Amino acid sequence: MTHSVGIGVIGFGWMGQAHSRSFRAIPTYFPGDGIVPRLVAVADTAPDRVELAVANFGFVVGTPEWRDLLERDDIDVIDITAPNALHEEIAEAAAAAGKHIFCEKPVGIEPGATAAIEAAGRKAGVITGCGYNYRWAPMVQHAKRLVDEGRFGELTHYRGRFFSMYGRDRLGVLNWRFLQDEAGYGALSDIMSHAIDLAQFLCGPIRRLVSVKEIFVKQRPLPSPHTGTHYDRGSPGDPTGEVTNEDYVGALVEFDNGARGTLEADRSIFGPQSQMAFELNGSKGAASWDHEMLNRLRLYLPEEQPEDGYIDVLAGDAFPDQGNIVPGGGNSLGYEDMKIIEALEYLRSVVAGTQHRPGFEDALANASVAAAMIRSWESGGWEDVVSLRID
Ligand SMILES: NC(=O)c1ccc[n+]([C@@H]2O[C@H](COP(=O)([O-])OP(=O)(O)OC[C@H]3O[C@@H](n4cnc5c(N)ncnc54)[C@H](O)[C@@H]3O)[C@@H](O)[C@H]2O)c1
Repeated sequence: MTHSVGIGVIGFGWMGQAHSRSFRAIPTYFPGDGIVPRLVAVADTAPDRVELAVANFGFVVGTPEWRDLLERDDIDVIDITAPNALHEEIAEAAAAAGKHIFCEKPVGIEPGATAAIEAAGRKAGVITGCGYNYRWAPMVQHAKRLVDEGRFGELTHYRGRFFSMYGRDRLGVLNWRFLQDEAGYGALSDIMSHAIDLAQFLCGPIRRLVSVKEIFVKQRPLPSPHTGTHYDRGSPGDPTGEVTNEDYVGALVEFDNGARGTLEADRSIFGPQSQMAFELNGSKGAASWDHEMLNRLRLYLPEEQPEDGYIDVLAGDAFPDQGNIVPGGGNSLGYEDMKIIEALEYLRSVVAGTQHRPGFEDALANASVAAAMIRSWESGGWEDVVSLRID
């Protein structure tokens, strides 16, 4: 049986293009699901991106005006891959139009916006998803299964981090990500949100925390018109502007289950490249994973293995979804493969008519932790995590 799903993508930069490639790949990698995404329409204010979407990705319609997409009956899912400041307005309008909504993280420019978006999606009864893609690495899914089976015993420690190189270049331009009024918070929304998501996915809800932040690169070159995405560079001597949100966030955290941990995120650090990673320890064992070595899970299960120390488990077609993308063992997946699995799993939920995880409920739980971090920056002390849910 074939399930045709009409897709409208809003924002056709890095993520809009990665999502669109993922939707297109689903029928070729996962023909057994019978899911056939139709790339109906794309909206972007940059004309060259609209042109690219129509000419090379096969979108039927391209427009600078995202509201046009909401009026179309042939679109079932609105995929929001526009900058964070637009998430709330678009998501609320999409919910009012009865569309299912996938929104990139952090789902809103600040925690209050995430709460409003979650309420709008819940009240409209639409199926929501969000872009916490690191969950979908087959080795992270495997670690989650081992946690759920109790193979690590009672969890005692969790260390999560996202150390990214994207802001370390002092000539990296002052794009929207570095501006509080366009991106909202900095490392907190952009990459700490991923670290919070994996922490709560693997170790459960965080109940209280104390947090600090810092801006390490205070000025950046101004972008020229129609540039200014993640990795664009200026030149020495270019006019500069002030970075208005944080490069670094760190936190000590306590989980509901009693585990203690640390979370850190930095976008301007030298050394790590894209170290979205965790280590967890329990009363019977331990695991660690790092996105830079996406296909490897390090496990220490002393009751199950003769070696005293970590052993490496390599991803392969024995793990769910992986074999559809590449057969055999040790044949690596990459970043965009997580996006394909993410898109597939979301559309499976849409087709089944069941609420999806991670959806806006998870984005809300994430934003509630972020809000406690922000309060802690101001109070300088421990803060309880309080749900921001709007009834
Ligand atoms: N999950 C991940 O790993 C990940 C990675 C990168 C970005 N993101 C998220 O994806 C979103 C987009 O980030 P990106 O890196 O793709 O940004 P980007 O700057 O590459 O692309 C954003 C696009 O939105 C377009 N746009 C701006 N205003 C618009 C409007 N009014 N209507 C329609 N289009 C508009 C821009 O022209 C641009 O093409 C952000 O929310 C970001 O947090 C997630």
